[in-house]
Amino acid sequence: MKNARMTLDRAYKIGKIDPRIYGSFIEHLGRAVYGGIYEPGHPTADGQGFRRDVLDLVRRLNVPVVRYPGGNFVSGFNWEDSVGPDRPKRLDLAWFTTETNEVGLHEFCDWCEKAGTSPMYSINLGTRGPEQARDIVEYANHPSGSRFSDMRIANGRKEPFGIHLWCLGNEMDGPWQMGHKTAREYGRTANESAKMMKWVDPSIELVACGSSSSEMPTFGDWELTVLDECYENIDYISLHRYYGNPTGDTPGFLARAMDMDDFIRTVVSICDAVKGKKHSKKTINLSFDEWNVWYHSNAQDQKIYRRDRWGRALPLLEDVYNFEDALLVGSMLITLLRNADRVKIACLAQLVNVIAPIMTRAGGGCWAQTIYYPYLHASRYGRGISLNAVVDSPVYDCRDYEGVPLIDATATLGGDGSVTVFCVNRDLRENFALEVDLHGFGNLRIGEHILLHHDDVHAVNTEDAPNAVAPVAGPGGEIDGEKATVRIPALSWNVIRFVPQR
Ligand code: AHR
Repeated sequence: MKNARMTLDRAYKIGKIDPRIYGSFIEHLGRAVYGGIYEPGHPTADGQGFRRDVLDLVRRLNVPVVRYPGGNFVSGFNWEDSVGPDRPKRLDLAWFTTETNEVGLHEFCDWCEKAGTSPMYSINLGTRGPEQARDIVEYANHPSGSRFSDMRIANGRKEPFGIHLWCLGNEMDGPWQMGHKTAREYGRTANESAKMMKWVDPSIELVACGSSSSEMPTFGDWELTVLDECYENIDYISLHRYYGNPTGDTPGFLARAMDMDDFIRTVVSICDAVKGKKHSKKTINLSFDEWNVWYHSNAQDQKIYRRDRWGRALPLLEDVYNFEDALLVGSMLITLLRNADRVKIACLAQLVNVIAPIMTRAGGGCWAQTIYYPYLHASRYGRGISLNAVVDSPVYDCRDYEGVPLIDATATLGGDGSVTVFCVNRDLRENFALEVDLHGFGNLRIGEHILLHHDDVHAVNTEDAPNAVAPVAGPGGEIDGEKATVRIPALSWNVIRFVPQR
């Protein structure tokens, strides 16, 4: 048994947690929409063709925003194709599939209402520009009496959709993107689009594209230039990052949250440098609107393309997540909480079938992948205030990082006075005794210890064995006044809930 210590004080706060850090993402890609959220004819389908079994699993997650309709898809998408009675079939050059446009803006907004979430709508700044950006805001948010608002009404929706959060394109720094731009070109287009969108509806918030990964050669310079162009008209800058473990190096893989933390801190520094340069009073915050593990499906996707280019709803990016993926996702959520003062939006990419916590079979069941659980727990209990947890843990070195804490942990303070500790034990073999000093929270007791553990890092959930990796009650611990000691099993995700004594 090893030892680690966490010190918490009611007065030491990182900041209020914006619930939107528990956002997710549905792209017109693979079986996310068709065969995922939407499958008319499925035994659980409702009158609009939405799968009720999927809605149930989504609702449990309490997802505040869902980014839509892309992703790379959006950079060639014409929003007009997705509304009204005429829905043209289009070749989607992002994923080399055929888009039928059966599900569009109205249907997705209806689905959001059913799922208890809100759309975060991304616009096409790849093949299109400020004019269409203006038009879609008019269509979605203007009450009536103009060409596009009246078109919405004619299409059956009297009240505006009131979409609050908009993404100004997607990954415009990437050469794979339709309409790829230089930072200066994108910054100018984003600025002009932002101005016009906000002139139509001044209440909206806008996310400009940051780098598609911290590994892009243009990372840093891209953010500086883009922000230089559009600082005063946007509200957030985006970050995207995916990790994989192709070499089977579990300690190195579990350390990747350190990279995510560096990425966030660097982007914060750049935002503040531009603020200083511009003598601005405004602070730009971060939207980490694509994050996850993504690598399991890469080889399979190449085979699918060799077989079936231009197919509809191909089973692309269907990563089957194992237990160690859930641990990294847990650490990535901890990283988001630690940076809650500046990360205001984050989207687990994605939600259903495509690199997703929820999987479905056509005509069959749906089930939660391993990564569903840390996401569920953080979304359910990680609300309120992010506390500045001081963690003292033994460390290890791996290929890319030195001094990786074996205990990766943070804590939140809920509105009901409860304190929740989120903790990943990265040690492959050793259990820990985690001492938690709780200062100024009043009389607390250990209400619950939720544990996710499996002896095999490669264990997965399937339709036939949906609970192979599922949370159980953890070993808990003792609390005496302001000092608690909790047992943290080797290689595990833990949620320890300290609740006020009644
Ligand atoms: O989420 C899958 C893809 O990853 C998105 O379409 C794109 O933005 C990113 O490269």
